[in-house]
Amino acid sequence: MSTHIGAAPGEIAETVLMPGDPYRARWAAETFLKGARCINEVRGMLGFTGTWRGHPVTIHGSGMGMPSLSIYANELIRDFGAKTLIRIGSCGGMQAAVKVRDVVIAMSASSVSTPSSTIFRELNFAPVADYGLLRAAVAAAEAKGLTPHVGGIYSSDTFYDERDDIAAEMTRHGVLAVEMEAAELYTLAARHGARALAVLTVSDHLQTHESLPAKDREQSFGDMVEIALEAAFD
Ligand code: HPA
Repeated sequence: MSTHIGAAPGEIAETVLMPGDPYRARWAAETFLKGARCINEVRGMLGFTGTWRGHPVTIHGSGMGMPSLSIYANELIRDFGAKTLIRIGSCGGMQAAVKVRDVVIAMSASSVSTPSSTIFRELNFAPVADYGLLRAAVAAAEAKGLTPHVGGIYSSDTFYDERDDIAAEMTRHGVLAVEMEAAELYTLAARHGARALAVLTVSDHLQTHESLPAKDREQSFGDMVEIALEAAFD
């Protein structure tokens, strides 16, 4: 048991998938894991542990935004020994070639700030994905017939951003998509010697304002769960 996770010691696997939404964690665990059982419900942030092809796996919600993800990822790594953490979630497309429904696999994550920013002072630390996970996730996506976009993303502190110029600069510098968690996940993994990756589906587009129909969300979420599991145990 840690401050925000009610699991007993040993109830969390070394491999953790982290969707933002706790109900998505439950759906993924019930759909893809064998023998899944709930190991956390503190503050409604659900976590489940079961097995996939015989490997122990935990699927635990992160909540929205880096401060929330940081609490859970810190405790998963430092208190429960998680070693591989894969975010699965949605993002907003920032390039014309990145269409709604497409999969984005984040090589790096830029940010204005993260919960870790205070420790870097004048440094601009570059949060990057684990290369082995990245490579395996690309292969897993391609094996499903998908063509993922692989590159930099932007982890924003705000969904409703009053500063349009920030997203515009990210777009101008080739950043593929915006979401709100990966930069801190990658930074924590670097600090603690863990592996991290973010596999994302484009749910909306900043320039075209197109958005993913509700009926397609479950299919795309399922694809991400499978890509993440294949990558984790490659
Ligand atoms: N902004 C931030 N996070 C997001 C977005 C967005 O437009 N879409 C999905 N996650």
